[in-house]
Amino acid sequence: MAISQRLHNFSAGPGTLPLEVISAVKEELPLYQETGASVMEISHRSAAYIAIEASARAALRRLLGLGEGWHILFLQGGASMQFHQVPLNFLPRAGSADYLITGTWARKAFAEAKRLGGARAAASSADEAFAYIPQRYDPSLSAAYLHFTSNNTVYGTQYSAAPDAPVPLVCDASSDFLSRPIEMHRYGLIYAGAQKNIGPAGVTVVLVRDDFLRRRNDALPTMLDYGTHAAKCFNTPPVYAVYVVDKVLQWLERQGGVAGIQAVNAKKAVLLYDAIDATDFYRGTVRPEARSQMNVTFRLPSTALEARFVEEAAEEGLAALKGHRSVGGIRASIYNACPLPAVEALVSFMRAFEKHHG
Ligand SMILES: Cc1ncc(COP(=O)(O)O)c(C=O)c1O
Repeated sequence: MAISQRLHNFSAGPGTLPLEVISAVKEELPLYQETGASVMEISHRSAAYIAIEASARAALRRLLGLGEGWHILFLQGGASMQFHQVPLNFLPRAGSADYLITGTWARKAFAEAKRLGGARAAASSADEAFAYIPQRYDPSLSAAYLHFTSNNTVYGTQYSAAPDAPVPLVCDASSDFLSRPIEMHRYGLIYAGAQKNIGPAGVTVVLVRDDFLRRRNDALPTMLDYGTHAAKCFNTPPVYAVYVVDKVLQWLERQGGVAGIQAVNAKKAVLLYDAIDATDFYRGTVRPEARSQMNVTFRLPSTALEARFVEEAAEEGLAALKGHRSVGGIRASIYNACPLPAVEALVSFMRAFEKHHG
């Protein structure tokens, strides 16, 4: 199959990867460097793999300006495992943590925390079907941390800045990680499933600050203790996924790092939101100030037209535009690796579709 048959891919996750990365992976798949084997077939204790992890960590440190006080972990279990692992480690047995409830994933994280102890919903946008980001919340000075979801993949909202908090922030950044700079000093821990912005499914990147890590509970199960993985390579990491993540990070540096990609992301988002706002045929689903730069959600005048839109778009080579099954509508996920021409193609398709069906 020719590479030209690749579609413009708007999948919400696993999402599109840079073509440069896919090509490099294809090239070296049967034989990785001097190892005499594929990267999938070498020991995680080998010099070749240790160099891959070191390279990925170094790139992350450069991209986010991370000092030595930060641990970078490559874990498994998806972001969903983090919903449990965070409170297991950091929710004190007799204490509490605050959660901001801004969508499906935030709710799931909160539910896991409640299973383990005193978690409190400090704000929620459930009253308006998660169409906004709460600007105010009721902070608790005694909370062990404040958990929030920086980008709400299902609803298409995003924090424009991290919430002000008197306690360390813990963030699920799965769907906007490395799409813009992060004020790291305000965080205790950030986690992100790789499969949207930084690689394939199978690895979750966790950044945890050393002084925050030292506050964790004791007597934790070994595999679920962040300290285990901060101390050493405890068990077999997802070698292949980390290898691809490293390649995506090198690609990101070539795009000018997070500041460079942020500018491209802004351009793509403006193009798409302008197309939505230009007409009554398309209707954005969230408050304008809460709009996500990563997942652009909108509706058409009827669900029948929406189904037709998705179908005809696919025929034009624009894939995976169907909204999340829980909310319907259209969702274009325009993560870092979604190139500007893909968004331009979508916008011209939207104009043509309206002309025919509007
Ligand atoms: C913001 C966010 N958090 C968590 C998850 C769940 O991730 P995983 O499937 O890796 O557990 C998703 C998946 O789409 C997500 O978008």
